[in-house]
Amino acid sequence: MNGKRKIIIAPSILAGDFGNFARDAKRVEQGGGDWLHCDVMDGHFVPNITFGPDTIRALREATKLPLDVHLMIELPHLCVERFIDAGADHVLVHVEAEARHDVARTLELIKDRGKRAGIVLKPPTGPKNALPFLGDIDELLVMTVNPGFGGQPFLPEMLDKIRVLRAEANRRGLQLDIAVDGGINAVTGRQCVEAGANVLVAGASLFRHKTLELPEAIQELRNSCLSA
Ligand code: DX5
Ligand code: ZN
Repeated sequence: MNGKRKIIIAPSILAGDFGNFARDAKRVEQGGGDWLHCDVMDGHFVPNITFGPDTIRALREATKLPLDVHLMIELPHLCVERFIDAGADHVLVHVEAEARHDVARTLELIKDRGKRAGIVLKPPTGPKNALPFLGDIDELLVMTVNPGFGGQPFLPEMLDKIRVLRAEANRRGLQLDIAVDGGINAVTGRQCVEAGANVLVAGASLFRHKTLELPEAIQELRNSCLSA
């Protein structure tokens, strides 16, 4: 159970209108989002290409919300500073890129610049791969779909990974934000919070909610976790 931990809703701009990111960032802020999640994809680490530091800079101009920047790129250490210069507040790197970069050094680089550092696990990556970094990060992002595209169905097998990692963080006395990303809606979000997550990244369920506007969709997601 998640107990007293504050729930953070991080709408994903990937589900916004690519011609109107500034407008949609403002809509998220006015609609009650806590962070703005920004998916950077390089067409190599994942089979999709989104945007780079210049877009982060434009989003920085558009909103005061913390920018939670999820780097789905092969060589993150080469460009984390460009994302920080552009206005990223949180920088998240995948542990799977480890063969090509030193994750611990990249995390140091992010923290030396005064930003929040995090790691990300793809669905096939076991929880043990996160253990060496748990004491050095502010945020742990558990992908609940295979990264690359919004609008995919939630993978319920990821709930156990969340449970294991929350238990380990508690055992070590770490105040870690555990985030989930992919297929999150009022039902799956609650399941993740019950398993130990406290940050919900959501794209399609908020921006393309069938009946609700963004503020109501964000509120619905928040409410679904109240007693979790
Ligand atoms: C997927 C991205 C997600 C995506 C989630 O690779 O990392 O942040 O925006 O989108 P939904 O909530 O639509 O699954
Ligand atoms: Zn993401």
